[in-house]
Order: sequence, then structure tokens, then C-alpha cells
Amino acid sequence: MIEDMLRTPAAVQDAERHTAHNYHPLPVVISSAEGAWVTDVDGRRYLDCLAGYSALNFGHRHPTLIAAAHAQLDKLTLTSRAFLHDQFADFCRELAALCGKNLVLPMNTGAEAVETGIKVARKWGYQVKGVPAGQANIVVAEGNFHGRTTTIVSFSTDSDARADFGPYTPGFRIVPYGDLAALTEAIDEHTVAVLLEPIQGEQGVVVPPEGYLRGVRLLCTERNVLFIADEIQSGLGRTGTTFACEHEGVVPDMYLLGKALGGGIVPVSAVAADTDVLGVLQPGQHGSTFGGNPLACAVATEVVRLLATGEFQRRSAALGERLQAGLRGLIGKGLVAVRGRGLWAGLDIDPALMSGREACERLMERGVLAKDTHGSTIRLAPPLVITEEEIDHAVAQVAAVLAG
Ligand SMILES: Cc1ncc(COP(=O)(O)O)c(C=O)c1O
Repeated sequence: MIEDMLRTPAAVQDAERHTAHNYHPLPVVISSAEGAWVTDVDGRRYLDCLAGYSALNFGHRHPTLIAAAHAQLDKLTLTSRAFLHDQFADFCRELAALCGKNLVLPMNTGAEAVETGIKVARKWGYQVKGVPAGQANIVVAEGNFHGRTTTIVSFSTDSDARADFGPYTPGFRIVPYGDLAALTEAIDEHTVAVLLEPIQGEQGVVVPPEGYLRGVRLLCTERNVLFIADEIQSGLGRTGTTFACEHEGVVPDMYLLGKALGGGIVPVSAVAADTDVLGVLQPGQHGSTFGGNPLACAVATEVVRLLATGEFQRRSAALGERLQAGLRGLIGKGLVAVRGRGLWAGLDIDPALMSGREACERLMERGVLAKDTHGSTIRLAPPLVITEEEIDHAVAQVAAVLAG
């Protein structure tokens, strides 16, 4: 195809002209997708190795999820929480069961789930733990990524995410990730929660040292502090188990879920916890017009049912080993480190070779979509429907990019 017949350059330019530049997308304009593959406006196909930052764990347009969405669109889409609807109870009951918790509070975006967790923990602190009014603190980790609201960026350690968005919300303490001694030190009698990602995604798929999550669990129990696990990216099959906390046999007091919960179709997030925690909320104290809407519930219930079979977790575990082994084979051949669990990998490229952005651009030219983070790191998080051959293909393209 000759260059000036391509639709991509004009589409990229048009988007640049009319949008705020709060993202720096790769110059690919996608118009359709199925499973692990997307097609751009010029008919080029790419293997999607980002999967919407894990929002597409079940692949693009999973037939069961699309059917649920279509059926629901023809019946009822929105009621607001002023009324109940016939999709609501099933979703909450089945998600609660998947989490092993009593209650669920549905919202829309991941950031809203995090905000919900923070509010619930503070209220629990005042009403149940007996923290004096206005004194609650929450301990978080360096390198965290929990979303983009003003409160959440208040405890980010990423200057891009944080700078010039103050004044910041007080009440957070930041400790090094993976450092149990620092966490122990930071907790005092006014601490209501420890909020952590069991694996730090945005930071480059950083897996904490073995025993860390177990230590956090013990510490939180001992000190009467809630352990809030942000499983928005790590959860729902991504790491080979339903929740990443399972790798250490740990059950947090509160799960924060999002991304894949919406099946790649609608934004659905949720907080799951037991009644002694989520039960602190009373009518009027929290909510969202679209939270738990019929379309969201219809799709998300099917997501929960797909996960309840265990099939996707098994795929992620088995195929993840293949992915991780393939990538580890590139250490010393352009990669300096590979981290990850299941179908989730962070690759550190030798910075002398190229930046993560450059690597992603070259991967794109070779028909593989991935996303860089922090300098020379790229993340791979393909849909869990990816096949062995497709994994081998992705690894071969990474190898070819590194080989120049
Ligand atoms: C661990 C984690 N928490 C929260 C969020 C925020 O989710 P959302 O972008 O849906 O607000 C993200 C998004 O990447 C995330 O990775």
C-alpha cells in the first residue's frame, strides 16, 4: 500500500488536534478486534499484548459477554440505584461468592473503587476501631498506582501523576514496597488500612519478595488494620489465579476490582468485603449514578461465571509459564530483567539499546501491541485467550526488536 493512501496518519493527526494530550498513544488507529487480535483502519492486524491494561482479560468481544450485552441492551440499560433491577442481586451475590466475602459495592472505574475503599476504611476506623475524628491514616507503598483522582494522586510517588495537582489530600503514609519492617514502623494506633497492589503493575509488574503479602496480612490482623488489596489490574485471572493475593495464600479484608470485571465492554468496578467492614456505609454516604447499572451487571455477572469455571486462571498459569520462560531466554540478549506472574510480564530493556517507547513502536511495526512504562520497561499482558503459538510469536517479535 502506498504511504499516502493510508488512513492512519490523518486519523492520528485529527485525534491529536482535538484531544487533551494526557496520553501519548502509539500511532495505531484500531477499528475492529476479535480475541487477541485487533485490526487498524488500514486493515493491518496486531496481536494485542496489552489487553486494555487487563480490562480485556477474556479477549476482545468474547462471544458470551457480547451476547449478554446485546440481550441486556434490548431490555434495560439504566435505572440508577434509586430503584432495584433484575440483574443486580445476581451480580452482587455471585461476585461476593467469587471473592469469599459477604458484600459487594459496585462502582464504575478503578479509581472509584479505590476511593470507595479509602472512604470505607476511614469510616470503619472512626466507627469500629475508635480512631479520634479526623485522625485516620492509611499506609501505602512507594511506586503505587491506584488511579488519577486528586485524593489518589495525593499519595502517588510519580511526579508526572502528582505535580501541580495540589493541595493534596492528607492522611496517607508512604513506605517502600516489599519492606515489611518499614510497614510495621509506619502503622500506629490511628492507622485504619494498608492499601497495596499485590503486584505493582504500572511500576513495571513488580512482584514483592516472597512472604511479604503474608507478613502484611499478619501485621494487619495483629494491629487491627484493614488490608486493602488493589486487584484492579492483578486480579481476575491475570496472574494464573483469581486474585494475585492467592499466590501467598492471603485473603485481604477488602478487594478492589475493576478493569476485566467489565469484560472489555463496560466500565465496572467493585469493592468486596465482609459485613463488618462494608456494613459501615448507610444510605446517602456513597454511590454513583451508573454504579451497578443493568448493562454493567449483566456483563459482569457473565465475567464472574467465566472466572468461576477456573478455565481462564488455568490458561493464564500454563501459558504464563511459556511466556515467562520465552522472555527469560532473552535476558542478556537485550533484556536486563524479566518479572511477572501468569500472563503478565515486565521487561527491562537494556537502556543503552533503546527506550521502552522505542521498543513498543518497533513491536507495533512488527504487529505486536504493548505499552512502555518508566523508561526502558515494557509490559506484556495479553488476553488470557491467547494461544501458545501466539505467545511464541510475541516472544519472537520481542527478540527481533532487541536484535535490531
Ligand atoms: C492497580 C490499579 N488500581 C487502580 C487503577 C485505576 O483504574 P481506572 O483507570 O479504571 O480508574 C488502575 C489502572 O491502571 C490500576 O492498575
